[in-house]
Amino acid sequence: MKAQDIRLSFLKFFEKRGHTIVPSSSLLSDDPSVLLTTAGMQQFKPYYSQKADPMTSPHPSLSGKPLGSYSVASIQKSFRTTDIDEVGDATHLTFFEMLGNFSFGGYFKEQAITLAHEYFQEIGVELDFVTVFAGDDEAPKDTESEALWKQRGVQDVRHYDRDDNFWGPTGEEGPCGPCTELYVNGVEVWNLVFNEYYKKDGKYEPLKVRGVDTGMGFERLAIALQGASSVFETDLFQPLMRKIGDGFTEEQKRILADHSRASAFLLSDGVRPANKEAGYILRRLIRRALVLYYLKHKQEGANESAIRTSIPEFFGALFAIIEKEYGFFYTGLSASRIQEEFMKEAEAFLKTLSAGVRQLRKMDTMTAKDAFSLYERFGLPYEVIREIAPEKVQSISYEDFQKEQEKHREASKRGAEAKFGGHGLVLNTGELKARTQEEVAQVTQLHTATHLLQAVLRSVLGSTVKQAGSDITAERLRFDFSFDRRLTDEEVQQVEALVNEYIESDMSVRCEEMPYEEAVKSGALYFEKETYPQAVKVYSIGEVSQELCGGPHIQHTGELKGFRIVKQESVSAGVRRIRAVVDGVAQ
Ligand code: ALA
Repeated sequence: MKAQDIRLSFLKFFEKRGHTIVPSSSLLSDDPSVLLTTAGMQQFKPYYSQKADPMTSPHPSLSGKPLGSYSVASIQKSFRTTDIDEVGDATHLTFFEMLGNFSFGGYFKEQAITLAHEYFQEIGVELDFVTVFAGDDEAPKDTESEALWKQRGVQDVRHYDRDDNFWGPTGEEGPCGPCTELYVNGVEVWNLVFNEYYKKDGKYEPLKVRGVDTGMGFERLAIALQGASSVFETDLFQPLMRKIGDGFTEEQKRILADHSRASAFLLSDGVRPANKEAGYILRRLIRRALVLYYLKHKQEGANESAIRTSIPEFFGALFAIIEKEYGFFYTGLSASRIQEEFMKEAEAFLKTLSAGVRQLRKMDTMTAKDAFSLYERFGLPYEVIREIAPEKVQSISYEDFQKEQEKHREASKRGAEAKFGGHGLVLNTGELKARTQEEVAQVTQLHTATHLLQAVLRSVLGSTVKQAGSDITAERLRFDFSFDRRLTDEEVQQVEALVNEYIESDMSVRCEEMPYEEAVKSGALYFEKETYPQAVKVYSIGEVSQELCGGPHIQHTGELKGFRIVKQESVSAGVRRIRAVVDGVAQ
């Protein structure tokens, strides 16, 4: 069965059984507890804890329409960094696709097990055995699942402990519970999680509404259905592996295939190479792929400029394959746009790569600090150093390298604070005031929160609400608006709830430049007291807010945590003032 037929068969199977099919969410997760999406359930997390209602809450992946059902299914773009070092063997990947069906207060164990078993029967996958949670001090043994499997004729039911058979939450807080896993050819292929608990502050509270969260490794299923001996032999990777071609070891080919596929998806979801967080993961993937290519050609005696000029063609061909193989299922995957961003990073890297290689080859011994300085000075991440001179980093672990990086970050933060010493502003737009880069990040968050607040005030109180002033410091936002009375407690709650809903649905913030006239005509809000230039920027947040504004803003509302109104006052007749904060910003 071809990969694409497997995807369709999965979705069709669940659609026929009353599930709403939901597109994958972005790899840039809705879930603030992780950098990148690691599981299908993340875009549904609020439904398990009743923070969102499947019947009424707008769902971002459905253009704001509600799910309309208590059961859904999806194929989710996912990324796990835990395996980054293992890539190159037959099984490990960074980016992968996860097939999942989910229930929020709909069906529970019996139907989840029946559905999974029936789907395997339909597509002809033979189960080796299944596992259930063995129980421990915190949660009991899952005898119910065991009995359900046995009723279905599956006799080999093994008992696994918490490490294997208790899932979640992602991050510190969220739904979690015991699971039952389906094994095929000796590997776990499908994990059915029964969310019964909500973990918060280290405690497990029973969930009011129990749910099901399943995740099946798409690549593992493809291996089973295609009789392949590794994922790189399935049609998900074969065209890429063929294109990468000879001259690389099998391991190098796999790394190139995995890293170019993962980079393509990350770039396409708006991640950009950077020195930290998701951007840093992407940088490591891109640079490692580039250095593999570079070293191979160096070894073959090619000169530096020939290598450089051949890079766009080589990687461009891989991105074209990725668009062709995946683009009809994951919309927005554009080889040319991916290539453009990839080449920006490649050019930055290639500027210092050969000097970095020379420096590295000169060094006889190396400490973690030296290794980090190669990144800082020449842009060589740990994996790249290891690729060029494995013997030199033998005694340095990635953790040692990271510690150096952390120290460096701390030192530069202190440097920035000392430099401004609490005086002087690094950002002062009139509306936003910040003294350090950290404060810039905070006022940026509060600035986007201000746009959400204005949009929500207008929808709760009516469109007579107009901005009368705004002042943002690192601690709080202050927003003045035309309105002729105090807001009732209920209105304050409504405003907070709606802003928080917009934050949770992680809408993207977009910026467009256009002539002033056109911007005003488009209906974007503007501040009447302000004089604007001829060409202006319009910031839009999802479909809910459009404002003329100079920025800066965050990229996704999900970067904000909870929003809270701390005070309302009267400024003058007909003008009210609200002070509000967002969690995560120092108060
Ligand atoms: N969320 C579960 C997992 O990732 C299904 O395994």
